[in-house]
Amino acid sequence: MSDFYKKILDNNKEWVQNALAKDPNFFADLAKGQTPPLLWIGCSDSRVPANEIIGAKPGEVFVHRNIANMVVHSDMNMLSVLDYAVNILKVKHVIVCGHYGCGGVKAAMGNQSIGIIDNWIRHIKDVYRLHNAYLDSIEDETERFNTFVEINAKEQVFDLSKTSIVQAAWKNGQELSIHGWVYGLNSGFVTDLGVNISSNKDLDEVFQLQF
Ligand code: CO
Repeated sequence: MSDFYKKILDNNKEWVQNALAKDPNFFADLAKGQTPPLLWIGCSDSRVPANEIIGAKPGEVFVHRNIANMVVHSDMNMLSVLDYAVNILKVKHVIVCGHYGCGGVKAAMGNQSIGIIDNWIRHIKDVYRLHNAYLDSIEDETERFNTFVEINAKEQVFDLSKTSIVQAAWKNGQELSIHGWVYGLNSGFVTDLGVNISSNKDLDEVFQLQF
């Protein structure tokens, strides 16, 4: 058994002991159910651990992660997570959190084939196509990359608000805010990108659903 593998099993025992030392009912209480106020949609990147960077305890955040924090409207995995979070858990907030240095976004800026993932990266390329005039006008490559990361996270906020799930929740008067964030790998800080959509009236008419 590798050292790392053995270490994580030991870590788990230690974590349980520490949690129980602080609160003997910690796991017994968690086992009763969950009512997290937040759904987190983030990147699979190992450097962006959802709970840790926002100081959320177990039970406080429902998490969905994929490469480049994408909201692909035919992705049954994302739709199932979103539906459960919004309609059963009744989360109050959804955060789409992109991050600087995202490998998926970087790949979408280039043309190198990587494998099957090329077909996932295509969704990010669609975002590039939507904003290519602006992005191509940014001469500095790092700045263009950072801007693309931000634009991609914002676009996923719009894509969330276009889903039937979110539009129906708003229609029913449910309290639900969607936020776009970007995380700095080299600073640890998150930045709120300031996209605030709280009704389907803010959407392009093409995407507005009537119920
Ligand atoms: Co990433």
